[in-house]
Amino acid sequence: MTSFESINVGDQGHVAHQYATTERLRGRMSVWGPGATGLDPTDVLFEELVARSPRTVLEIGCGTGAFAKRVVDALPDVDYLATDASPAMVAAASAQGVRAEVRPAEATGQPTGSIDVVVAAWMLYHVPSLDAALAEVCRVLRPGGALLAVTNGEQHLATLFAAAGVTPPRSTFTSENGEALLERHFDRITRTDIETIATFPDHASAAAYLATVDATWAAALPAFEGARQDTGFTTVFTATAPRAATR
Ligand SMILES: C[S@@+](CC[C@H](N)C(=O)[O-])C[C@H]1O[C@@H](n2cnc3c(N)ncnc32)[C@H](O)[C@@H]1O
Repeated sequence: MTSFESINVGDQGHVAHQYATTERLRGRMSVWGPGATGLDPTDVLFEELVARSPRTVLEIGCGTGAFAKRVVDALPDVDYLATDASPAMVAAASAQGVRAEVRPAEATGQPTGSIDVVVAAWMLYHVPSLDAALAEVCRVLRPGGALLAVTNGEQHLATLFAAAGVTPPRSTFTSENGEALLERHFDRITRTDIETIATFPDHASAAAYLATVDATWAAALPAFEGARQDTGFTTVFTATAPRAATR
């Protein structure tokens, strides 16, 4: 299909480069809007969190802290700790007034059984060991606690990647396999599948998006006139009843 190398989003060199600054992530976040159902994954995530009335929340892979800021503004009594492996992301989250610390997902430093809700949004496909990260989540969750995990499906932005003739990035935690992977650590999983739309006002913006994934991909997108839209496929998983054996 392409002469371009396939990207593995779990490759730790790729992860370190991607998130050394906030620029690429901010660029990608800016194009997304709800699809035909009007559902936005971040709204679904927020509603799932609020419905659980948590006192303590731990976010792993918090990125710029946008979600954390939304929660602490809406629920000022919640004890919210945002964590990320990238110092640049933690600095961005802290700059918004969110309590944030540099911590890898597999070693959060939180006491066992202390957290009501763990948030892991678009990050479980980046960790070096998914089982190690999920075991850590189960360890810090109290027995009635929940993991809210967001990820994308295999067809996410497939039309844009096809137009550019590049192989879509390979992901280890997807809408398709996420439930089975979470079942290794949790007894109950529910899911909400959501179609979203990425809007690119012109060729330059679509090329710039591709360049945030791989700098060489921008040149691969053939010219087009006007705007284009591409469909995204995202799932919000709620995992409860963490297995004692993994805690
Ligand atoms: C796609 S971004 C998502 C950020 C944020 N959750 C959001 O929804 O905007 C992935 C984030 O995971 C972080 N990350 C990657 N590997 C990690 C790890 N092993 N432990 C903690 N954070 C990690 C990255 O630094 C980055 O901020």
